[in-house]
Amino acid sequence: MKTDNLVLTITASLLLFVNCADAPSGYSPYEKEISKKISEMSLEEKAGQLVQLNIDKICDPNTLELMPEAMEEIFGRYKIGSILNTMGENCPDREWMRNVMAQIQEYSIKGCGIPCIYGLDMIHGASYLAEGTLFPQEINLGATFNPIHAHNMGKTLAYETRSMDVAWVFSPVMDLGRNPVWPRQWESWGEDAYLQTVMSETEMRAIQGEDRNSIGTYNTAACIKHYLGYGVPVTGKDRTPAIIPDYELRERYFRPFEACIKAGALSLMVNSASINGIPTHASHKFLTEWVKEGLDWDGLIVTDWADIDNLYERDHVAADRKEAIAMGLNAGVDMIMDPYKPEITEDICELVREGIVSEARLNDAVARVLRLKYRLGLFESPTRDSEWPLVGSKEFAQLAYEAAVESEVLLKNNGILPLKEDTRILVTGPNGNSMRCLNGGWSYTWQGTNNPKYVERYNTIFEAMKSRFPSTRYVAGVSYIEDWAGQNEDASGIPEAVKAAGDCDVILACIGENSYCETPGNINDLTLSANQINLVKALAAAGKPIILILNEGRPRVINEIEPIAEAIVDILLPGNYGADALAALICGEENFSGKLPFTYPKYVNSLHTYDFKVSEKREMIDGAYNYDAKMDVQWSFGDGLSYTTFKYSDLRVDKDTFRKGDDLKFCINVTNTGKCTGKESVLLYSSDLVASMVPDVKRLRAFDKIELSPNETKTVEFVINADELAFAGDDGKWHLEPGEFRISVGTESVTICCIE
Ligand code: BGC
Repeated sequence: MKTDNLVLTITASLLLFVNCADAPSGYSPYEKEISKKISEMSLEEKAGQLVQLNIDKICDPNTLELMPEAMEEIFGRYKIGSILNTMGENCPDREWMRNVMAQIQEYSIKGCGIPCIYGLDMIHGASYLAEGTLFPQEINLGATFNPIHAHNMGKTLAYETRSMDVAWVFSPVMDLGRNPVWPRQWESWGEDAYLQTVMSETEMRAIQGEDRNSIGTYNTAACIKHYLGYGVPVTGKDRTPAIIPDYELRERYFRPFEACIKAGALSLMVNSASINGIPTHASHKFLTEWVKEGLDWDGLIVTDWADIDNLYERDHVAADRKEAIAMGLNAGVDMIMDPYKPEITEDICELVREGIVSEARLNDAVARVLRLKYRLGLFESPTRDSEWPLVGSKEFAQLAYEAAVESEVLLKNNGILPLKEDTRILVTGPNGNSMRCLNGGWSYTWQGTNNPKYVERYNTIFEAMKSRFPSTRYVAGVSYIEDWAGQNEDASGIPEAVKAAGDCDVILACIGENSYCETPGNINDLTLSANQINLVKALAAAGKPIILILNEGRPRVINEIEPIAEAIVDILLPGNYGADALAALICGEENFSGKLPFTYPKYVNSLHTYDFKVSEKREMIDGAYNYDAKMDVQWSFGDGLSYTTFKYSDLRVDKDTFRKGDDLKFCINVTNTGKCTGKESVLLYSSDLVASMVPDVKRLRAFDKIELSPNETKTVEFVINADELAFAGDDGKWHLEPGEFRISVGTESVTICCIE
């Protein structure tokens, strides 16, 4: 069994940021074994390897025990290669899962002669392990602008997942959260492609470790998802069509996936919806041409949930199920997540016998499945005896806490924060006493429901505040009705909350959203619920200062109540340690350093991203009639305050003119001009001043996070290759055109010129 130095890395240093070299291209050392195996496999055995079923096909929902007859059928008869998921509203613990995995592997090896690969959605830490460590969601980690947290989350979730004998995680999520209405915005790192690239690649490397051909004992395979363009449905509703021109796809959506694949990602999950009229699962162009051929990639492509069915049932591009299966396999799908229908293997066999899916395509798909299993060492030892002292440990908890501290964003502070210990605080609002709200979806269960037994040991906002400010009280005012979806509210408590406000010094109104995930989180209006707006307005009548705590997966519009607040903190979905982090920030023990990784809209019909086109924001337009075309957002990408202040000065560059391929070195001085220590994310943007396609006003090209004591100055250095400043053209090529570029960092900017 292979070991690596994870334990040492974690315990000695709370994780060093390991930047391993690019993974070698080319195929694995297992190719001979793979070919031999394939030559010995029957058609039925091959078809079985291409199918992934849901665990409840083999597990009794009442007893939670595996059913021997079903196991016999799934592995003995259908030769199924993969299983996924947990049992509905039950989150597994290690003991249960290891026991299940031991049985699954026994049946799989007996039935197919091949170990099974099991996949789990470990989205923000080991979020499907009862004793696992739940980090803040990806949107929070985006707000830290600090890749160390993506690294820590990746290492931790891989370790805890492998401790369950599960070797495959459907993580990191790489959708770009550019439509704030979309109910999976919080699963993304935010709206920027560069931030997404850095964070995803960092997490992916941490999950898989340094050698993609030999995944270590404490690592798993990553599955980057959902390829491609899933995060920007036109309607904002989940799994609905996106319209994205190819140049935009290449520049913003494909590039991060390309970076992760070049860095060694072993598998990829497909976007459930369609782009430009073609369901992604049926797109030979995106699956085969762009990824497998274009990047000479030997990894595995898995569908999303039942998406082959969607090709005919929902999208109507196939006349029946068989045609849909052929469509997916011929487009480049290698494994079909077909949760409930093992008979799909019979259709696959028929399609191959009829020549509709070629034997070569079948063998290629099987090879990709087997390659992944070899790389994970599953043939050598499908389950692992090892010590797992760090599962649910204090060390891991500390990492999740640190990530939460750096991820909560102070958006407004009229001087009221930090609060003194003897402040009498009223915590109110539906999010004030709920772990479900802090964690969001993919937390113990899909929708983040049914978690009381898993979260008892963690603090809600009220509990964390009370431990710092002893006279804190909680009156909900508005509550979520805790059914499965949890999206309805009861506002009958507003008068009681208003009454309680009379006896406090400060009101902490904790508002936002209850947990949700995917389609159940669809909304028709991005505005915060009327009940919650009414609660805040009613509280204002008490005349006490109000601090808004926004606890939400997407930026709900709050323009009506923003002016009422003395301070506003967007804690997003900060996880199990998010309330402890908030209380430490509010009392001043910790300092804020989070910055918004998306643009916070002020109006529902004015949704912009920071990298908009100039035409979206014009002040006065002079003419016969003067008029303006102002853009009005609530807060901008990158906004976030601190208890201290920073001054930027002396931005310099090593060349005024440059050519393609040149490295450009920029330096900027940052000084802490306030009274306390603080961390600052330093963001560098470029603006292409004139281009043959309308340029974005600016693009994030680099960032770094530093810590400064009062009066301390640090010089931050960025090296950027000139090619990074190029844009994707309508012709599918990258263009770096001669002309001026403005580079800006904080308040400073320099202009440089491309001469070729
Ligand atoms: C989601 C995926 C997830 C899969 C398996 C789907 O509904 O879109 O993100 O990995 O289910 O749970």
